[in-house]
Amino acid sequence: MSDVQHLDAACYHASPGFMDHLAGELPAPYRTDGELLTVMGPELQAYWTRNVWQKPFVAEFGSIKEAASLLRSIQRNWAPYVHRHARRTALIAEALPPLPSKPKAFPFNLPDNPMGAFTLLDEHSLMASARCSSPWPNGELSFLEDKEGPPSRAYRKLWEALVMAGSMPGPGQRCVDAGASPGGWTWALAGLGAEVVAIDRAPLDESVARLPGVTAIKHNAFTLKPAELGPVDWLCSDVICYPPALFDWVSGWLEAGLARNFICTIKMQGADWDRATVAKFAAIPGSRVLHLWHNRHELTWMLVRP
Ligand SMILES: C[S@@+](CC[C@H](N)C(=O)[O-])C[C@H]1O[C@@H](n2cnc3c(N)ncnc32)[C@H](O)[C@@H]1O
Repeated sequence: MSDVQHLDAACYHASPGFMDHLAGELPAPYRTDGELLTVMGPELQAYWTRNVWQKPFVAEFGSIKEAASLLRSIQRNWAPYVHRHARRTALIAEALPPLPSKPKAFPFNLPDNPMGAFTLLDEHSLMASARCSSPWPNGELSFLEDKEGPPSRAYRKLWEALVMAGSMPGPGQRCVDAGASPGGWTWALAGLGAEVVAIDRAPLDESVARLPGVTAIKHNAFTLKPAELGPVDWLCSDVICYPPALFDWVSGWLEAGLARNFICTIKMQGADWDRATVAKFAAIPGSRVLHLWHNRHELTWMLVRP
C-alpha cells in the first residue's frame, strides 16, 4: 500500500439532475469523476450538492482487502460512490462495516459518527474523504413513510430540514405553514404536537384540517401581516412563488421580530436558478441554504435559533 496523498481540494458531488447548476457554481475542476467535481483550493460555497468531500485524499492499493483495511483504519463509515470499476467498488464496500440501509423513523438525531465517501479512480487507486458535508451516505436519506396520513409527500423535505436543524416544533409551540395545501407540512407539524396556522389560497385536505391544533386560513399568505398573525415559533413556507417574493415576505417577518425559526423552500422558476436572491437569503445572519435530498428544483433556507 502506498502512502495516502492528501489533496488541497474539495470534491463536490452534484445533487441528482443538477450537475449543470453545480458546474456553473464552481471554477474549472481539476478532475471530473462522473458527478463528482474535484476543485483545487479550500472548500467553496456550492448549493447544488448532495455531498461535499471536505478532506479528499488519494491512495493506491493492491487488493480489495487492502483498500478496505486502509479505509477501516481511518473510521467506520464509508459510502461508495460507484463510478469506475463498479464491481470492484462494491466489493470494497462489502468488505467494510455495513451502513444503515433501512428507511429511518422520524424524528431522530443527527448521527454522531462521521460518514466518509470513496470512489475508484482506476483499478488500483481510490479517492476518498473521511470528512463530508452530509451525514448520510452520498447525501441520500430515506424516511419510513406514512402512506395514509399525509395528503402529499412534501412532508419529507420538512422532516429532513428539521433533522438537519437539530430542533423541532413541539407542544405549546405555534407554527405558520404558508402554502400549506394539500397539507403534508401541516400534517407533519401537527404530528409533533404543535399548533399550526395553515395558510393557502387552495383548500387544505379535510383530514388535515380536522387534526387537533390545526387552523386553516384560505388567503394569500403574502398579504397577511405578521402583526395580524402574531408571534410564531416556526414560520414555514412551501409557497410556489418567485424567490424575490419569498425574500420580501421573510424580510417583513424578520423586521417585525415575530418569528423565531424559519424553514422556507426557495423554488426556482424555469430552467435556471436565482443566484442573486439565494445569495441574499444566505447572507441573513445565522441562517443557511441547503439542497436537501428531498428537494427538487428548489433550495431550503433555514434560520433556526438555539
Ligand atoms: C408545493 S405546494 C405546497 C405543498 C404543501 N407544503 C404540502 O406539504 O402538502 C405549494 C402551495 O403554494 C400555494 N400558494 C401559491 N401562492 C400562494 C400564496 N400567495 N399564498 C398562499 N398559498 C400560495 C399553492 O396554492 C400550493 O398549494
